[in-house]
Amino acid sequence: MTRVQLLTDATTQPLRDQVPDGCALVIFGASGDLTRRKLVPALYALAHDGLLPGRFVAVGLARREKSHQVFRDEMRAAVDQFSRLRPLKPEVWDRLAQRLYYVSASFDDAAGYERLRAFLVDADREHGTAGNRIFYLATPPVAYASIVDRLGAAGLVSDAWDGPRGGDATGKGQGWSRIIIEKPFGRDLSTARALNADTHKVFRERQVYRIDHYLGKETVQNILTFRFGNSIFEPLWNRRYVDHVQLLVSEDLGVEGRGEYYDTAGAVRDMVQNHMLQLLSLVAMEPPATFEPDAVRDEKVKVLRAIRPVDLTRAGSVTIRAQYVSGSQGGRKIPTYADEPGVAEGTATETYAALRLEIDNWRWAGVPFYLRTGKALPKRVTEVAIQYRQPPLLLFAHAEHPRHEERDVIEPNRLTLRIQPDEGISLRVGLKPPGPRISLVPARLGFVYRDTFGVDPAEAYERLLLDCMLGDSTLFIRRDEVETAWALVTPVLEAWAAAGRSGLASYPAGSWGPTEADRFIQADGREWVNP
Ligand SMILES: NC(=O)c1ccc[n+]([C@@H]2O[C@H](COP(=O)([O-])OP(=O)(O)OC[C@H]3O[C@@H](n4cnc5c(N)ncnc54)[C@H](OP(=O)(O)O)[C@@H]3O)[C@@H](O)[C@H]2O)c1
Repeated sequence: MTRVQLLTDATTQPLRDQVPDGCALVIFGASGDLTRRKLVPALYALAHDGLLPGRFVAVGLARREKSHQVFRDEMRAAVDQFSRLRPLKPEVWDRLAQRLYYVSASFDDAAGYERLRAFLVDADREHGTAGNRIFYLATPPVAYASIVDRLGAAGLVSDAWDGPRGGDATGKGQGWSRIIIEKPFGRDLSTARALNADTHKVFRERQVYRIDHYLGKETVQNILTFRFGNSIFEPLWNRRYVDHVQLLVSEDLGVEGRGEYYDTAGAVRDMVQNHMLQLLSLVAMEPPATFEPDAVRDEKVKVLRAIRPVDLTRAGSVTIRAQYVSGSQGGRKIPTYADEPGVAEGTATETYAALRLEIDNWRWAGVPFYLRTGKALPKRVTEVAIQYRQPPLLLFAHAEHPRHEERDVIEPNRLTLRIQPDEGISLRVGLKPPGPRISLVPARLGFVYRDTFGVDPAEAYERLLLDCMLGDSTLFIRRDEVETAWALVTPVLEAWAAAGRSGLASYPAGSWGPTEADRFIQADGREWVNP
């Protein structure tokens, strides 16, 4: 593939040229998987890059009793195992470890919040965190509403989303308070609305940071810079030139011991409602007037609102759901989903979903967006493929085609945004090969993130934690976005729940999904783009 060369020496830049105000980060659920895999390694990376404020503490909170030192030792082991910046640098770790603390409390125990308040008052005094607080809910979702309620009742939340600075001795402080809420945000429209209402009893919307870690990925943000920082693509980004768009989020693993959780979720709740609709909104939105948080999110929500409700009478031609049965993937045997531990007997939970969505606006009318996601597929890939129309006249009757010797169509241009892994962008074009004959072969122009910038992209959580400390909510989901996304998928989920296993297809683990899904897109005269 042709490599993109940078025309500047600046191959890497710090994540931000700003360092945030001093603050305390309170992690609820600090003995959990997310904390050790992502959050503390992200704090370490920020410390490594000099992006943490000088006045900073992180305090983990969970039920198990342990000392600050035991928590620090556990987190050091986690950074050793999961950081992208290994081997760990002891001097960087030691600086961070001095600001890591642990408070043992149950989420429903009022005395625990009093201990937390006392801790934060001390931290303001000793570390100069000035009453500024971020509460991170890395907990089971059932706990979100009660933690918010208890934080409010304990007077731990100020009503400022940003400055003025300076804490006071009560622990309520005069600083700002922000809350980061993990996914899943609700499990349907009514539970998402209820959680929003509960959250708003204590926090104002400007203080609420609903996380979708996809938005923290460099390659996802690159969708916006690619679209709106170059003038040659945007004029072609519409119904006149685009035939259709495919979004694929495939996972190569099965449920891997998480059957109990996954069986209550399924592919639409796990991937479509959040990550895939977020990707779609970035690909399809109109240019925002500015890059301010609300200007960007206004455009995202507008496009989500323009998606036509799924026609439930046409299940099978606009939606496909399926479950994997045993098969092999990369030489490993994957058992049938329904036989996995924790999965309910007779389960109808989809491990694969494909949806055909239409956006009813001037830019996209008539251009289908195909969303496809599944577990136990051949590869772990997230990508967006924008397929352009055929040229209006086929001058090259002898076009060569990789799968057919010769045929009277040519491979249309396709722009592929590779979100992960192998991050990059490629554009398929037709070129004349050497020789006397005029013919056409498909070739790829491409940009590979790692080759061009010489580094791997930073982890999404680094960017998102930093943005929250800086008070920048551009890459977080606003209330209306989350509710609009749920409003779109909830009727589909309800119809599927009512139908049970009727209409549920199956596919062997290690394949690209059920044959029903191939027929579904072939009926539109198109094919899946399998990486
Ligand atoms: N793991 C990931 O990579 C990932 C990715 C994206 C989103 N998320 C989301 O992040 C959240 C956390 O996920 P996770 O995988 O880290 O969960 P997890 O491993 O089950 O951890 C849950 C944490 O909550 C604590 N906890 C549970 N009930 C408690 C209670 N009543 N009082 C005090 N502490 C309690 C547990 O501590 P003790 O058991 O020690 O009390 C543990 O620290 C979930 O909403 C998940 O959907 C996770």
